[in-house]
Amino acid sequence: MKHMTEPEPTMSRRAVLRAMVAGATAPWVARGRVRGAHDTIGVGFIGAGSRACAHMGMVRHLKEQGEAVELVAVSDIYRPRREEMARKFGIPRVYSTHRELLQDPDVDVVCIATPDHHHGYQALDAMAAGKGMYIEKPLTHWRQIELTLRLVEAAQQTQCIATVGCQAMSDPAWRQMKALVQEGRIGRPLFGETGYFRVGDWGERGMPVPDPNVRPGPDLDWEAFLGDAPQREFNVDRFFRWRLFEDYAGGPVTDLFPHSLTPLVDILGAAWPDAVTGIGAIHVYPYELREVPDTFNLIANYPENMTIVVMGTQGNDHPTTVQRGAGTRSPVVRGTEGTLTIAPSNRAIQFMPVRAPGVSRKPEEFPIQGHEDNVEMWRDLFRCVREQRPTTMCPIELAARAQLVLQLAMWSHQRRRMARYDASTRRWEV
Ligand SMILES: NC(=O)c1ccc[n+]([C@@H]2O[C@H](COP(=O)([O-])OP(=O)(O)OC[C@H]3O[C@@H](n4cnc5c(N)ncnc54)[C@H](O)[C@@H]3O)[C@@H](O)[C@H]2O)c1
Repeated sequence: MKHMTEPEPTMSRRAVLRAMVAGATAPWVARGRVRGAHDTIGVGFIGAGSRACAHMGMVRHLKEQGEAVELVAVSDIYRPRREEMARKFGIPRVYSTHRELLQDPDVDVVCIATPDHHHGYQALDAMAAGKGMYIEKPLTHWRQIELTLRLVEAAQQTQCIATVGCQAMSDPAWRQMKALVQEGRIGRPLFGETGYFRVGDWGERGMPVPDPNVRPGPDLDWEAFLGDAPQREFNVDRFFRWRLFEDYAGGPVTDLFPHSLTPLVDILGAAWPDAVTGIGAIHVYPYELREVPDTFNLIANYPENMTIVVMGTQGNDHPTTVQRGAGTRSPVVRGTEGTLTIAPSNRAIQFMPVRAPGVSRKPEEFPIQGHEDNVEMWRDLFRCVREQRPTTMCPIELAARAQLVLQLAMWSHQRRRMARYDASTRRWEV
């Protein structure tokens, strides 16, 4: 199988090399000052946009509830945003680059909430600096397949304490479903379906352009925004409304599907796919600027004789199955002996046996204890930092297994061909 690297004309190797060197030269870094249950954990925010604002609110909420945490620093390449967030949340230290923030000894944990193409590199830098991490989804940009794989390796090497921002993973329903699959309730897992349906362009039209006249300079570092994306002249829409553009985002497949696919991959114990087909389209929002699809469907095949299907559009919000979490269609998990899904009451997992000769199981329901809670992701991360142990909610390796499917699907869509992956050589082609 031929090895295909990331997109031909434009991707810089510099950042990849820098990141690889960081991983190679820092196999273990002492993880800062936090040693016990009562030590205060300093949180630094990389990116000060709308998602970071939500995270700052969650961390402040936990602090108000008595968790020993401080919001100590914020960095953003756009001055008005970093200053606004620092003011709003009383954050004492403000940096223009994430590297300065990572050098701050009072920062124990970072929250990475920048556009997609920065997450992976900033996570590698944070690992090398020995910080704990809350990395927003998607783990990487859709083009960065090598980076996804590199992150898995680096996370293992550095033993970093990190969670990826698929908050659906805080829903105990999925852990209960996973346990049922593991105990053999559905026989051999065969097939998983999920999706993400909602109405709304998720902010492209709404993504505000607060200052149409802003230009690169002391207030806005355009080079830093571009990172390893194709070099282009400054464009105010690209900066503020980056979700519309393929260089920085992927549309629903990478923006929304991580929320649906990550739990399903975990429930099924799906390792790495060997073939993925994806097809997307702009069916709903044909804006002049929009490059990314608004509708996307994918099929992933696994060598362990399993299939995953993910569907979605941003033009209709009927979830088909019971909905848990915004827009997320609950998974249907099929095996040789039965099927698991969420009961119509939304309070239990439903087991339905297959109607096959020799299968005598009865339908059953298993009450669900709890629901999705994004704050719980943070609580878990802080607990793990104090106890110096891996996170349980959404570790990098799990997020990467879902992300690779989404990346291959996007490449398949781009090339109008099936994408293939060989886990033994870590090579892919499309
Ligand atoms: N888990 C969820 O439910 C959820 C919800 C919304 C967004 N997100 C994710 O959060 C991320 C951020 O989304 P957003 O809506 O906050 O976007 P945003 O545009 O509001 O904010 C991004 C911020 O990052 C800054 N930035 C850009 N490049 C940077 C760099 N190199 N270093 C530091 N700062 C940089 C920008 O100036 C901007 O202030 C996205 O990847 C998105 O997928 C997740």
